[in-house]
Amino acid sequence: MTVEFILNKETITTDINPNIPLLDFIRDHQMLKGTKIGCREGDCGACTVLLGELKNNEVIYKTITSCLTPLGNVNGRHVVTIEGLSHPDNIIQLNMISTGATQCGFCTPGFVVSLTAAAINKQNPVESLDGNICRCTGYNSIKIASQLVFDQLQDTDNLLAKNIVPQYFANIPDRLGDIKFVKNTGTTIIGGGTDLYVQKQRVLLDKQLEFSTHNSDLRYIIPDKDSIRIGAGTTMSEFISNKHISELIDTEQLKLIASTPVRNIATIAGNLVNASPIGDFSVILLALNAKILITNSTKNREISLDEFFVSYKKINLQQDEMIIEIKIPKDTIKFNFEKVSKRMYLDIASVNSACAVYTENNIIRSIRISAGGVYEIPLLLRETAEYMIAKELNEKTFKEACSIAVKEIKPISDVRGSKEYKTLLLQQLIKAHLIQLEGQQ
Ligand SMILES: Cc1cc2nc3c(=O)[nH]c(=O)nc-3n(C[C@H](O)[C@H](O)[C@H](O)COP(=O)(O)OP(=O)(O)OC[C@H]3O[C@@H](n4cnc5c(N)ncnc54)[C@H](O)[C@@H]3O)c2cc1C
Ligand code: FES
Ligand code: FES
Repeated sequence: MTVEFILNKETITTDINPNIPLLDFIRDHQMLKGTKIGCREGDCGACTVLLGELKNNEVIYKTITSCLTPLGNVNGRHVVTIEGLSHPDNIIQLNMISTGATQCGFCTPGFVVSLTAAAINKQNPVESLDGNICRCTGYNSIKIASQLVFDQLQDTDNLLAKNIVPQYFANIPDRLGDIKFVKNTGTTIIGGGTDLYVQKQRVLLDKQLEFSTHNSDLRYIIPDKDSIRIGAGTTMSEFISNKHISELIDTEQLKLIASTPVRNIATIAGNLVNASPIGDFSVILLALNAKILITNSTKNREISLDEFFVSYKKINLQQDEMIIEIKIPKDTIKFNFEKVSKRMYLDIASVNSACAVYTENNIIRSIRISAGGVYEIPLLLRETAEYMIAKELNEKTFKEACSIAVKEIKPISDVRGSKEYKTLLLQQLIKAHLIQLEGQQ
């Protein structure tokens, strides 16, 4: 497979193995050593680069972790490393220096790239750094540098003038438009690679990967009469920032999932197929009563997500099948998601839970509560929900529900907590649902 994309200013056309991580291509094949190798697991942000995608004649830039991104996933896109941004008058770099926000400098390229994306997308500068770790400077000076950049940018939209992005960015939309996107086929489907490239990067090098999930065909969110249709390749960030989704549920709390550069590539289908018992989107979509559309290229079938998880990491999906769409009903519900992990950000859950409820005059007419980290699969608490029907949405009902929930779960003790702790935690999360739901109209 030939991969064609723009790396900083240069158009790259290469027949090299498309399965290698973008990070290795940048450093070892292009000798651009500014992008650093830290954890190779998406945790540290040292390898952060910008990925630009052409949408409606405009290039949308987002940060990604290049250690988890296969080269094949950047086909037809613009990749920007620190070398492609660096300039003596770049105000992000100048502020990092003047505030003492860099010491050994190992993490600094990643921070500069993340702040560049925040400036382009007018995001909160500090929030944009949720995927970057610094081991020696201390975050206060980095925060001060970020704030200064944004204070200086407030009166201008012209990022070229402030040297945030260099002049060559101006003709990138035309240049990307000239690249022909050629679809490939393969035996292993890859989404963002944020599970696969952590779990088995070496094995993947010899596989025939199919890069179509990140192709725009499978990245859409379309409201229908009764449901919202979500393409399987939709990223977590696209889900969280979508207006149809945020009309249905409060997406603010979903920012606790992973980090910005991981959410920018991680797909919803990848989360379901990975089938982790603590997968956040699995838990959220179970409560939302999602259906999934599966195809084997000759025929489609639709199943309810609660029929998808069979036993630990075993799912209702054949070797020749893939998920193409996820559908969530547009019901009028109150919804809440809770997640407790060892660290608040960039950590997977010890226990997570989601709750979707429909009430009439404060009487529960329908309710779905899901829980992760307390069973071998992401679990729908069916008996708990059944008990709650026709009861009032109040403390008494939720307290009684907790005593049923603990009988439905089978947590195990592991690094994320003892089974006793997880049992207690789930009950706390169910009570937290009530507090949040009571506050919603
Ligand atoms: C640093 C870091 C933090 C993370 N934090 C969280 C977190 O807080 N919460 C959480 O839930 N997860 C977290 N994850 C896990 C991961 O990001 C998610 O599970 C993500 O949704 C996986 O999606 P992906 O597209 O990257 O999957 P990939 O790695 O590309 O694929 C995962 C699996 O899905 C299969 N697949 C992908 N698309 C399809 C399809 N359309 N049809 C059939 N099979 C398909 C692949 O073949 C593979 O088996 C984190 C990961 C990292 C690296
Ligand atoms: S090397 Fe640490 S996130 Fe990529
Ligand atoms: S400056 Fe040394 S790791 Fe951040």
